[in-house]
Amino acid sequence: MAGLYDRDSEVKAFDEMKIGVKGLVDAGITHIPRIFHHSPHVTVENPIKPSSTVVIPTIDLGGGMFESTVTRENVVAEVRDAAEKFGFFQVIKHGIPLDVMEKMKEGTRGFHEKDTEVKRGFYSRDITKKVKYNTNFDLYSSQAANWRDTLTTVMAPDVPRAEDLPKICGNIMLEYSKQMMKLGELIFGLLSEALGLEPNHLRELDCAKSLSLLSHYYPPCPEPDRTFGISSHTDISFITVLLQDHIGGLQVLHDGCWIDVPPNPKALIVNLGDLLQLISNDKFVSVEHRVLANRSEEPRISIASFFMHTIPNEQVYGPIKELVSTQNPPKYINTTTTELARHYLARGLDGASPLLHFRI
Ligand code: OGA
Ligand code: NI
Repeated sequence: MAGLYDRDSEVKAFDEMKIGVKGLVDAGITHIPRIFHHSPHVTVENPIKPSSTVVIPTIDLGGGMFESTVTRENVVAEVRDAAEKFGFFQVIKHGIPLDVMEKMKEGTRGFHEKDTEVKRGFYSRDITKKVKYNTNFDLYSSQAANWRDTLTTVMAPDVPRAEDLPKICGNIMLEYSKQMMKLGELIFGLLSEALGLEPNHLRELDCAKSLSLLSHYYPPCPEPDRTFGISSHTDISFITVLLQDHIGGLQVLHDGCWIDVPPNPKALIVNLGDLLQLISNDKFVSVEHRVLANRSEEPRISIASFFMHTIPNEQVYGPIKELVSTQNPPKYINTTTTELARHYLARGLDGASPLLHFRI
């Protein structure tokens, strides 16, 4: 248990090996190191609802071409309902070709399965680095580490050169991101209308301008009941669009229960982040989610597209003035992505919501 051993030095020793969680699995470990042990109460705190009883909404975007069968008005109403009730929804016919999604997962797997020496060249915890590979971005601040490695790449507004990205996945990352930026514009348009604003409102606030890809690799875990793939958290972004493979394990907290988000090869999952909660003055809320440690024999791959500014960024955000009134005064002070990220990093994924710090 935490506290009974020199956790800091074990964390540091693991980090300095620069091999990630995958390196431990490749070394043949059968027990996970104690820096990965979560307190037992975390794993049993919230009941799990059988996935059949509640499902997150699936919204057909009609390829972004709204017509008589899929009208924009209907889609906006579905988005509003899903955003208010779940903070999470899946989209289908979202315009990103299936083969691009498949290749993105393959490229991510390819990178993580490269030789340690190749990956070491990218290993870093420098928050200003635009291309980096590491394990547990919050390794030094969280209570317990998670069974996951991540390649993080900033893709917009400054588009990286293919040669700055890992060779095995650079081209597909550029293609996927180009398509994701288009989808982002569409979703932020729908979210603006769902908030009762002009369709361009969120885009004009630069919510759709910046994109980072978090390309995750969750190796099989020898003791999946002692840890997580990613512990319960809300995303700091405006929104995150998640592509997950067929393994499963993603869960969302809804009405106090964890519900499964079963894999759907055609769907992308949209979740609302803390920055959107702040600017919408709590009309839309960011939702807790987590990924169980991978209990299958194969790795789990997912790619999270974070729409948020690259840190450091000084653009100021506060509750949108059209969404506040004397009856509904601002609930947050103005802040920047840099400030929000500072609180997020300091506490780690398993800490309290960074939004609390900015609440009036
Ligand atoms: C994240 C996240 C879920 C997943 O990157 O913030 O929640 O399935 N990822 O990888
Ligand atoms: Ni997340």
